[in-house]
Amino acid sequence: MGMQSPVIAASILSADFARLGAEVDAVIEAGADWIHFDVMDNHYVPNLTIGPLVCKALRHHGVTAPIDVHLMVDPVDRLVLEFAEAGATWISFHPEASRHVDRTIRLIRESGCRPGLVLNPATQLGWLDHTLAQIDLLLLMSVNPGFAGQQFIEPVFAKLAQARQRIDADGRAVRLEIDGGVKLDNIGAIARAGADTFVAGSAIFGSKDYGATIRAMRAAIAKV
Ligand code: DX5
Ligand code: ZN
Repeated sequence: MGMQSPVIAASILSADFARLGAEVDAVIEAGADWIHFDVMDNHYVPNLTIGPLVCKALRHHGVTAPIDVHLMVDPVDRLVLEFAEAGATWISFHPEASRHVDRTIRLIRESGCRPGLVLNPATQLGWLDHTLAQIDLLLLMSVNPGFAGQQFIEPVFAKLAQARQRIDADGRAVRLEIDGGVKLDNIGAIARAGADTFVAGSAIFGSKDYGATIRAMRAAIAKV
């Protein structure tokens, strides 16, 4: 199967929330492929963000791009149903936050969404042993979840390479996504390590020209 075409997922955590619809329109117009939607509950992570209501509002606003929901919540399952109803495309969750990981994965798929598993920087790839055949996306955190604008944790490069090997050996089309501290100056190395799906928040929304930033990111990925 090998690597899939690169996807830039713009994390709206760093967008101007007072003008969220316009920000999402602008970042899609600028060339982002997906909207990465960070859901934090002040329990699984020490921060509080947005829920299904906001996802639904973006759909009503006319957003048709895939919405990549990253659940940083505990418990998980009830919000899966609400986000599926609110128009999510992908739903990913942290396995430590679910009592029944296989059940949650199946629930996401049965709700009509595509399931992903998220592993924190110190969480083992061993979680893939009994889940890889069921998921469509593996998200590796390259910062500790909870905040935008943190530094990429270097040992995650080696972990990415290991994850790439596992996915290729398995042979199914599973996206390998990276989240946290992705910038113009490291995105090439991240692609080389095996990622095909790149979350970027502050690097895009903190820049003056979203389009120029996304084009430069794609160019750096294409050089690999
Ligand atoms: C962190 C979130 C990220 C965050 C990334 O918990 O999962 O998606 O928005 O922000 P940057 O790209 O600024 O590191
Ligand atoms: Zn995220």
